Amino acid sequence: MQLIICKDYEEISKRAASEVAAAIAAKPDCVLGLPTGSTPVGMYKNLVSMNKTGEVDFSSVTTFNLDEYYPIEKDDSQSYYTFMYDNLFSHININTSNVHIPSGQSEDTEKFCFEYEEAIREAGGIDLQVLGAGVNGHIGFNEPDDALSLCTHKTALTKNTIEVNSRFFDDISKVPTHAVTMGIKTILDARKIIILISGESKAPVIDAMLSGKITTRCPATLLQLHKDVILITDVATMAKTEK
Ligand code: F6R
Repeated sequence: MQLIICKDYEEISKRAASEVAAAIAAKPDCVLGLPTGSTPVGMYKNLVSMNKTGEVDFSSVTTFNLDEYYPIEKDDSQSYYTFMYDNLFSHININTSNVHIPSGQSEDTEKFCFEYEEAIREAGGIDLQVLGAGVNGHIGFNEPDDALSLCTHKTALTKNTIEVNSRFFDDISKVPTHAVTMGIKTILDARKIIILISGESKAPVIDAMLSGKITTRCPATLLQLHKDVILITDVATMAKTEK
């Protein structure tokens, strides 16, 4: 795993955007795996500006989002569908028929998840997967557990994730209890992965990721199995680690 320590969050965002831009420059019809959450907001801002100045062209790019709450309506203000359009897709020249976001409403989630995996395969697989990490070490919504699922699946959110994500909702009771998420194999099958981690509370996740050990109790540690992962963090977060 390559470790890049940036000056601050702004620099993480620029660095992450330049990795995405480089992937698109190398392969204009590349397939991106994308996260939501607070961490990638700066990266998306940079990508929107770079698209406006013509530095990056999304016209042939295909995207697959990591996850979506379940159940949730597409147009709910807190859906990841709304997040992605607000932060990226409404502001860039992407062909929205190439955008894929897990459904938070499908009645037959098993069928939906199977078809999501099929769609990733048919698109040629993910070239660059961008990730954030939860304070509990989750990636996507693969929550710490004794065993993890390989492929896209519906899962229950942990109490910790519901508490952490309640900052976006009027009330904790409004946070969906479940999500549809890519599985660990879906993520590890990506040709390249970048993971953005910023915030003192996530320093233990970095320690675990650099420990040389893997555990399903901290799903981000499984990224050590992949041959092309870049962990992008900042000085303040790194200062709270044991490294
Ligand atoms: C979101 C996702 C999650 C987040 C994680 C960190 O699509 O997959 O794993 O990346 O919860 O969220 P933030 O960036 O809000 O701390």
